[in-house]
Amino acid sequence: KKAKVIYDKEFVIGKVDKRIYGSFLEHMGRAIYTGIYEPDHPQADEMGFRKDVLKLVRDLNVPIVRYPGGNFVSGYNWEDGVGPKEKRPRRLELAWRAIETNEVGVNEFVEWAKRANTSVMMTVNLGTRGIDAARNLVEYCNFPGGTYYSDLRRQHGYEQPHNIKVWCLGNEMDGDWQIGHKTAYEYGRLAREASKVMKWVDPTIELVAAGSSGPRMPTFPEWEATVLDHTYDLVDYVSLHVYYGNPERDTMNFVAKSLEMEEFIKTVISTIDYVKAKKRSKKVVNISFDEWNVWYHAHLEGKDEKAQPWSFARPIAEEDYVFEDAILVGCMLIALLKHCDRVKMACMAQLVNVIAPITTVKGGIAYRQVIYYPYMHAANFGHGVALLPKVNSPKYDSKEFTDVPYIETVATYNEEKEEITVFAVNRDLEDSFEIEFKLDGFEGYKVIEHIVYESDDIYKGNTQDNPDNVVPHKGGNSKVEGNTLTSILPKFSWNVIRLK
Ligand code: AHR
Repeated sequence: KKAKVIYDKEFVIGKVDKRIYGSFLEHMGRAIYTGIYEPDHPQADEMGFRKDVLKLVRDLNVPIVRYPGGNFVSGYNWEDGVGPKEKRPRRLELAWRAIETNEVGVNEFVEWAKRANTSVMMTVNLGTRGIDAARNLVEYCNFPGGTYYSDLRRQHGYEQPHNIKVWCLGNEMDGDWQIGHKTAYEYGRLAREASKVMKWVDPTIELVAAGSSGPRMPTFPEWEATVLDHTYDLVDYVSLHVYYGNPERDTMNFVAKSLEMEEFIKTVISTIDYVKAKKRSKKVVNISFDEWNVWYHAHLEGKDEKAQPWSFARPIAEEDYVFEDAILVGCMLIALLKHCDRVKMACMAQLVNVIAPITTVKGGIAYRQVIYYPYMHAANFGHGVALLPKVNSPKYDSKEFTDVPYIETVATYNEEKEEITVFAVNRDLEDSFEIEFKLDGFEGYKVIEHIVYESDDIYKGNTQDNPDNVVPHKGGNSKVEGNTLTSILPKFSWNVIRLK
C-alpha cells in the first residue's frame, strides 16, 4: 500500500516543550517502595534508591515527574513525609487501601529526581486539605529561609530551597472516587484561593488546574469552563487525563483511540479559549496532559484483587504490556506532538511498576516493558519544533471511529542540531506501506537511521524471564532523493526516521 506525506520547514505547529515527555510517580502499589526505593536491594545507593532503575529512567530522558499523586495526594499530609524517618507516622492510605510508611517524602523525592536527571511537578492536596497546607508546602520547598517552614526544611538538612516550579492544584477533583470530590464550583473557588496564596509565597511558580479525569466524564467540558471561570488569571495550565484499554481485543479500534485523545485536546483548547474571550483576557492558558497511557491488563486479569488490601507496597496496576500497546502509545505521543502549540506538559502515567514502562522485581532485575521504546525515542529525538503533517493515507472505519488513517505521523526539526526526526506508525495489521515524504525546505538531508519497532506477534511482551523479547531494530528501509524521503513502514509498526 502507498501513502504520501508533506512536511515543510516553514509550516511549524509550535516549539516542543521538552516537558511534553514527562512522567508520573505516585505513592501507589510498588511505584515508590520496591520500585524506585528499595534500601535492601543489591543495587541500592546510600539513600536506598535503586541504581538500575535510575539508569533506565535516565535513558528515557524524562524531563519532569509528577509526584506524589494521583488519588493518593487527596488524603496526604505532606508533613508526614519530612523530618527524621523514625518519627514518621504509618498511615492508613485510603485511596489505594494500603499502609503508607512515609519513608519517602518530599525531600527524598527531590533527591531521587536529581539522581534521575529530572525535575519535580508537585501536586498539593485539595481533597482533605486546602489553602493552608498548600501554601506551607510551597514555603517549605521554595522559600530561602528565616520563616517557620523554610527553616524546618533547613533543619531537615536542606539548606537550599528546592525551587520546584510546577505545582498541580489537586488531582481529578471531578471524580466521585476522589477523597474530597468537589463540584466544579467548589473546586474552582478553592483552586483560585489556593493559587492566589501559593503565588504570593513564590510568584515564579506555574500552576496546573485539575481538568476532567477523562473525556467521557459527564461533567466534561462544563467542568473546565466553570473551573477556568474562577481561576483563569491565576493558573497556567489545565490538566487532562486519559487511559485506554482493549478488553474486547479489537486491535484496529484500539489503535485508533489516539483520535479520541486528539478530540479531547481540541475541545479543551476551545473551552480555554472560550473563557479567554469571555474574560477579554490576553493571557493564554495551556495544557498539561499529566496522565496518559494504556491501562487495563492487570484489572482484566483480576491481578489487583489477588493481593491483600491494607498492606505495604502490594502490587497494584502492574501492567504486562503487549506489542499492540506500544503502537497505541506511539500514536498517543504523536497526538501530543501534533498539538504542541498548546500541550506544553504531559506525563506518561506512570513510570515504575504501576501502569509503567519500567518493571522491577523485588530484590531482582529491572526491565523495560514494550511501551518503554516509543516513549524513549520521542523523549530523546523529538525536540525543536514540530512540523505540520499533511497526510494522504488510505483510511478505515472501526467500531467507534470513522476515517482512521492507516498512517499516523509527525516530524520534529531540531534547528540547533540540524536534524529532522520523522515519527510514523503504520496501523495496518496486514500490509506494509511505502510512504513518500516530501520534505520541503530540507534539500540535501541524508538518513542517519531508520529505527523500526515491529513484532511477529502483537500480543508479545517483555517479561522478567525474557526482558528483551520485543525490542526495536535499526536498518529500516528509507532513502532520500532530492527532497523526497521514501520509506517502507512494515505492517503494524512504529518507525523513527532520523535525517541530518
Ligand atoms: O495513575 C493512576 C490513577 O489514575 C491516579 O491516581 C489517578 O489520578 C487516576 O485515576
